[in-house]
Amino acid sequence: MIGRICGTGSYVPDHFLDNNDLSQMVETSDEWIRERTGVVRRHIVQEDTVVSMAVKASRRALEGSGIAPEDLDLIIVSTFTSEVLLPSTACEVQKELGAGNATCFDLNAACTGFLFAWNTAQAYLAQGMYRNALIIGAERLSRYVDWKDRSTCILFGDGAGAAVLKAEKGSTLPMFTHSDGAKGEALTCFTRPDTYIQMEGQAVFRFAVKKVPEAVEELLKKADMTMEDIDYLVLHQANRRIVEAVAKRLKTDISRFPMNLQEYGNTSSASIPILLDEMNREGKLKRGQKIILAGFGAGLSWGASLVEW
Ligand code: COA
Repeated sequence: MIGRICGTGSYVPDHFLDNNDLSQMVETSDEWIRERTGVVRRHIVQEDTVVSMAVKASRRALEGSGIAPEDLDLIIVSTFTSEVLLPSTACEVQKELGAGNATCFDLNAACTGFLFAWNTAQAYLAQGMYRNALIIGAERLSRYVDWKDRSTCILFGDGAGAAVLKAEKGSTLPMFTHSDGAKGEALTCFTRPDTYIQMEGQAVFRFAVKKVPEAVEELLKKADMTMEDIDYLVLHQANRRIVEAVAKRLKTDISRFPMNLQEYGNTSSASIPILLDEMNREGKLKRGQKIILAGFGAGLSWGASLVEW
């Protein structure tokens, strides 16, 4: 069995801070941020919570999916930014959706989290343990950003993305994740004394531009495919220069790497499903197309999964 996407949804708060707003808060400029990151705006929670964003994205994903909330038997939420530690975000989403038959849990693999959720759901569906899964990436990074630190506050935003997967006959497509805890210090968010994201920017940059192309090549090898067989590479949306460097290393035209980071910044585990949903709603995705999802982030962690639309 294989889990096929039958619905996508996303939600970002209306309120945003653009680069000029940030230049009033820290010593930076629109030009510096655009040039080094590609980010122009990031949407920031005012009234919403991680749960409310996850629920709004999920409702949109369920609409038209042919799956009712009570048909869901698995809900996985990837997040590390929930306002409450217990109950889990997934259980709160279950309650709001009325998905009483689902088993629910959260996972934290930082910005690679949606890939971990995808792979976990696929493994359950492949085993025949569940039939209909809802997987969500939902993050409120603005809560854990030090708004006085110009090297990090320019990067991140809030939002949620979701996908509904339905088990169909078929063989699982290649997917994997990797972790390197020994390098975890490069990107941290300790709970005390200051709960802020801290990062060695250049180390994370180098890690991403090395590991993502390696992951894509590993995936292609496993799938016995070449880049010519791939329609799109949906990368975690952290930095335009990272996406461009990955495209260059893979000798692949940048047009096959859709991007929306200019509008949302880095929304961690929400970035891949938000982008997938936008592509879906814009009619870019056609049945049978092959898409590589690739992510990287704290842990350190990274991975890639092949999706057939
Ligand atoms: N505005 C203006 N200047 C800034 C700045 C800002 N927002 N942030 C940092 N600077 C300054 C630094 O203080 C430094 O000044 P100095 O030379 O006087 O010391 C200078 O710019 C260069 O800093 P550096 O950190 O070398 O810049 P960079 O080119 O590496 O860009 C990042 C910084 C964070 C944009 C870049 O390293 C990056 O994107 N890394 C990956 C981060 C990421 O994606 N993390 C999440 C992964 S999931």
